[in-house]
Amino acid sequence: MDYMNLNAFISKKTTPVDYLTSWEAPSNIALIKYWGKQDSQIPKNPSLSFTLSSSVSKTEVSFKPKKSGKFDFDFYFEKKLKPEFKPKLQIFFKRIESYIPWIKEHDLIIKSHNSFPHSSGIASSASAMASLSLCLMDLERHFFPSMNKSFFYQKASFLARLGSGSAARSVLGPVALWGENRTLETCSNLYAINLGEDLNPVFKSYQDTILLVDRGIKVISSSKGHDLMHEHPFASNRFLQASNNLDSLLPIMKSGDIDAFIKIVELEALSLHAMMMTSTPYFILIKPNTLEIIQRIWDFRMSQKIPICFTLDAGANVHLLYPLEYKRHVLSFIDTDLKSFCENEQYLIDQVGQGARKL
Ligand code: PMV
Repeated sequence: MDYMNLNAFISKKTTPVDYLTSWEAPSNIALIKYWGKQDSQIPKNPSLSFTLSSSVSKTEVSFKPKKSGKFDFDFYFEKKLKPEFKPKLQIFFKRIESYIPWIKEHDLIIKSHNSFPHSSGIASSASAMASLSLCLMDLERHFFPSMNKSFFYQKASFLARLGSGSAARSVLGPVALWGENRTLETCSNLYAINLGEDLNPVFKSYQDTILLVDRGIKVISSSKGHDLMHEHPFASNRFLQASNNLDSLLPIMKSGDIDAFIKIVELEALSLHAMMMTSTPYFILIKPNTLEIIQRIWDFRMSQKIPICFTLDAGANVHLLYPLEYKRHVLSFIDTDLKSFCENEQYLIDQVGQGARKL
């Protein structure tokens, strides 16, 4: 790790203030998957994601000068006090306190809300941690107003990473890249960057329709899954495969070669789940309906010559990815052929978005 860079993220102590801010941050879906990490959420391979648009977390933080005792906070989710979420947030604050030492002089009330249905199987940690980190950075910018925009987002992504690795990628859009790699020197293991200029217009409005196959509680948490990569017999080849896939995908994101895009994205999704199925202990997150949907996507792609493809997160839900111009055709295919394989016939229509915003 580059400790020179790390020092740049340590801010000074300041005089505590009363401050209220709220930020909205989107969820993201990885095309090149992050699965396996070292200490401090340093990824074993680079990852790349589409930032989403409608699936967002909104977080409001009220800061007050601390009256007495230790640093403390209350956390509300969907308007209800949720003490059961506190331990995860306590770990997060412990990890970031040396970078924002002023936090210890404040009491916080955090209120968070998700646009997507609760327990829909959509991971909310990325959008939640990103929106919270942006609120923290908002107060830091209030303390240090000369801070430039690029540092603001860089440090927000840096803090978000310490909450949940993939949250580093939920700060910026439309495509975020996290982790050192051979092709882009500006990338870092500490925070995500925006792919920006090097993105073909077709991807700026790319569609992600999320088929909710199973809303159940995950059999294994993503942190446990990352840990299992330490002893995984295929780990080093998997990390190399992901890096190579990223090298191949970057020029495709620029050229807009959708057929080549599909081959890498589906390979990444299945490789992620192959790692899960070959860990010790092994586990399976996909369901029979996930496979049924995948088969139907392939049949539809062949017969209709429409370039849709799928990717998977750490769960059974299927993300259906396709260019905007096919939206009507694909939604009608979902209605007739796919929705019956979703729990309560539910799916979410989303698309690539621009990243977080202040409310
Ligand atoms: O950010 P975490 O620790 O929840 O890990 C996320 C892992 C995947 O969602 C499966 C892949 C990814 O790159 O987002």
